Amino acid sequence: MQSIRKNIARVQSYVAGKPIEETKRELGLKSVIKLASNENPLGTSPRALAAMRRALASVNRYPDSQGFYLKRRLARTLKLAPENLVLGNGSDELIDILIKTFVEDDENIVTSEQTFVEYEIIARINNKKVVTVPLSNLTFDLRAIARAVTPRTKLVFIANPNNPTGTYVNRSEFERFLKTLPGRTIVVLDEAYDTFIDVRDYPQGIDYVKGGRVIVLKTMSKGYGLAGVRIGYCIASRSYTPYLERTRQPFNVNLLAQAAALAALDDNAFLSRTRKVTLAGKKFLYRELAALGVAYIPSVTNFILIDVRRDCVEVFRRLLSLGVIVRDMKQYKLDTFLRVSIGTPAENKKFISALKKAL
Ligand SMILES: Cc1ncc(COP(=O)(O)O)c(C=O)c1O
Repeated sequence: MQSIRKNIARVQSYVAGKPIEETKRELGLKSVIKLASNENPLGTSPRALAAMRRALASVNRYPDSQGFYLKRRLARTLKLAPENLVLGNGSDELIDILIKTFVEDDENIVTSEQTFVEYEIIARINNKKVVTVPLSNLTFDLRAIARAVTPRTKLVFIANPNNPTGTYVNRSEFERFLKTLPGRTIVVLDEAYDTFIDVRDYPQGIDYVKGGRVIVLKTMSKGYGLAGVRIGYCIASRSYTPYLERTRQPFNVNLLAQAAALAALDDNAFLSRTRKVTLAGKKFLYRELAALGVAYIPSVTNFILIDVRRDCVEVFRRLLSLGVIVRDMKQYKLDTFLRVSIGTPAENKKFISALKKAL
């Protein structure tokens, strides 16, 4: 152990959602559903699947290091230049690239206490200081974050909407916050769940990228159903992107992921079906949870945080034994909360009937 760097020895590992196959094997169950990682329950766009099948014939070749076609396609949709984009092996990798590119050893990142844990984990792996600020009403507290920012703060990570709470910061709060920040501090707006937004006052990060105060993270893991091939991108000022490109590995986005992403962007029908099923599933779950007397936090995402008012690990285990994988929130210090991803109508029904038994 003595040879391990101190920051690595201290770092907490990421806890992933429990896989379906592992649960079946361990508990001897035939049928298991996973509502634990906010994945797309409808699968993947058929167009993306066909594109990957075609691309399989070329996997003896390295992927395009520049992601030329994918960037050009994204740039057309987003109405900006390909030079405003950097592709990543999921947005997880882009978090690492941003920290490596921007944060000096004596600088810090600021984020919330209960948010996507990878900001903190990756910063610590890179031996950077992390300052976390409590949520207020289970929402990012931008006033408190502004107070925590110092001239040594290089990046502020804001998941908007937030995982695991499903809450969001609105446009006026965000714009007020931006005005208070010191000139060198950059806000990273992580919009992993933007597909599911159903409110009007959501600030679209892309509107704030010009000028370099904001960098936006996007993933195709959720709405586009491509979590397994790993593809995300960041939208940033052209004054930053050449340096981000320098930091990344040359072949970070694999050939299948590039082909799938390119095809998925043309499949609006899949995206709108995903949105429709998710929003309808959310309504169903809200209604059923209310009927059960289970409190939930209204969400603008494809998951819901629910308060089971007893030890969340115990309820998680009971649900698991009934073939339903959700996420207990112990790691987030929300000891009585579970996070459940919105599934297909059949999965949502199975979850509710299992929850009735588990409570
Ligand atoms: C807020 C947030 N950002 C980023 C990610 C990671 O996405 P990716 O699959 O693109 O690495 C997740 C995944 O759960 C997330 O919840």
